Order: sequence, then C-alpha cells, then structure tokens
Amino acid sequence: MTDPVVQVAGLRYRYPDGTLALDGVDFRLEKGETVAVLGPNGSGKSTFVLHLNGLLQGEGTVSVCGMRIGHETLTPVRRKVGLVFQDPDEQLFMPSVLEDVAFGLLNSGLKPEEALPKARHFLRLVGMDHAGEKAPYHLSGGEKQRVAIAGVLAMQPEILVLDEPTTFLDPPGQRDLLALLRSLPQAMIVVTHNTLFAESLAARAVFFERGKIVGEGTPRELLDCFNWSLPGPSRGQPPPAAGSSGQSRL
Ligand SMILES: Nc1ncnc2c1ncn2[C@@H]1O[C@H](COP(=O)(O)OP(=O)(O)OP(=O)(O)O)[C@@H](O)[C@H]1O
Ligand SMILES: [Mg+2]
Repeated sequence: MTDPVVQVAGLRYRYPDGTLALDGVDFRLEKGETVAVLGPNGSGKSTFVLHLNGLLQGEGTVSVCGMRIGHETLTPVRRKVGLVFQDPDEQLFMPSVLEDVAFGLLNSGLKPEEALPKARHFLRLVGMDHAGEKAPYHLSGGEKQRVAIAGVLAMQPEILVLDEPTTFLDPPGQRDLLALLRSLPQAMIVVTHNTLFAESLAARAVFFERGKIVGEGTPRELLDCFNWSLPGPSRGQPPPAAGSSGQSRL
C-alpha cells in the first residue's frame, strides 16, 4: 500500500471556551480516494476538517503528503489541501466574483493573463461564468457556494476538503456538483448531511459522534447502522380531490 495522503493520529482539540470538540481522532485518506464524513450537528466534523490545513492545531498529529502540520509546514500544506468552508461568507472577500476565484492563482504567482482565463473556466464549471463582475456579497446563498467551490478547485490542490458543499444548492446544482467532483482525480473528504450525495460520491465514510469517529464503512452501512436515512415518501392521506371541501392551509 502507498503512503496515505492524509494521516491523523490521536487528534484532540478543545476550543478556548473549554468545549472538547475532538477527543482522539484517527483517520487516513489514500491517494485518489473519496471519503464522506457523516455525523450529527456539533459532533466535530467542521473542527476536524479545519485541522487538515492547519487553521486549527490540536494535540496529536496531522500529516499531509508526508508533512507533519506545524508552523514551518503551513505554506506547503495549504498548497496541497484545498478547503471549502461550511459557510461561503467566510471564503469570499474580494470585490468581484472573478477576482475572488483568481485570487489564489495570482497569489501563487500566475500572471493575470493566465489566472483570469483559468478563473473563468472554473466559474463556468460551477455555472457562474455570467456573474464574474458581481460583488460576492450580492450573490444568493447557492451562488456564493458555487463561487467558493470554484475558487478552491481553480487551485487544483492535491486534496480537496469540502464542508457541506450542497447546503445551499438546488437539486440540479447538487447533481452537477456530484458529476464535477466525480470527474476529478483528487483525493477528497466531503462532510455532508446529504445522504444521497454521500452514497453517490464516496465508497467509504466515517461517522463522528461527540468528537470521535465511532463508525466506518460504506455510506449505506453507516446510514443503516446509525439510523440516519430519511423516511421514504409519505404514505399518509392523499391530498383532497380538486373541488372537494378540503382547503389548503398554505
Ligand atoms: N469557536 C468555537 N468556540 C467554542 N465551541 C465551538 C466553536 N466552534 C465549534 N464549537 C463547538 O465544538 C463542537 C463541534 O462543532 P463543529 O462545528 O465541529 O460540529 P459539526 O459536526 O461540524 O456540526 P454541524 O453538523 O452542525 O456543522 C460543538 O459542540 C460546537 O458547539
Ligand atoms: Mg460543521
């Protein structure tokens, strides 16, 4: 077996207010693999992914492509790991959408004549090429999420980490993102409450509970094991027939 691209051992993290958010996490991600991260609200998923590019640093070890994350490896680690935040408002900060997507490319040394077409290409991939001149803060939630994803994909990092990338996307947007992510060669960690998305994207999943990984398997196995699936379509009363006395309460 080749070396993992991400290896986490004994990770613990306590927020300054005393909340123990991670309580001994062991995890590995192989080259080219996609892993879904599942688990209830507040179980530590976002805290975990913030450790993967050193935004948070807890006890234990986190290694990326053989580099142990620490003060002196932050720059090369951040080139390897592209992180899409749960909240796109935390990701977008430039005056225009195009500048936002081009920001990392320009920062990594590309000239504007190379960076801007590349940024436009990735905006096209997420269906946002029409909005390059708009201010990010004028976009809708789903549009912001698309632009945030484009900005990270444009950097073509070796490892993609996406925290709830479908929260604001409409169903066709979710379907397009699924197809886009499936077409990429990178290793990927995707935090999601979207069970269909997890099943369609990842062969392996882990399940967080109270700051620990308490289950590992296929997404379907974990969804069954933790009783995490939504019920099927309602088999309750059919809606009243047109012209009947039933009144819609909506
Ligand atoms: N900045 C913070 N300061 C104090 N506690 C925090 C902070 N951020 C998160 N927490 C706490 O840490 C725990 C883990 O939070 P985290 O955001 O990692 O959960 P999550 O699994 O991503 O949840 P969700 O599914 O709602 O996104 C929670 O108890 C949360 O209240
Ligand atoms: Mg979260």
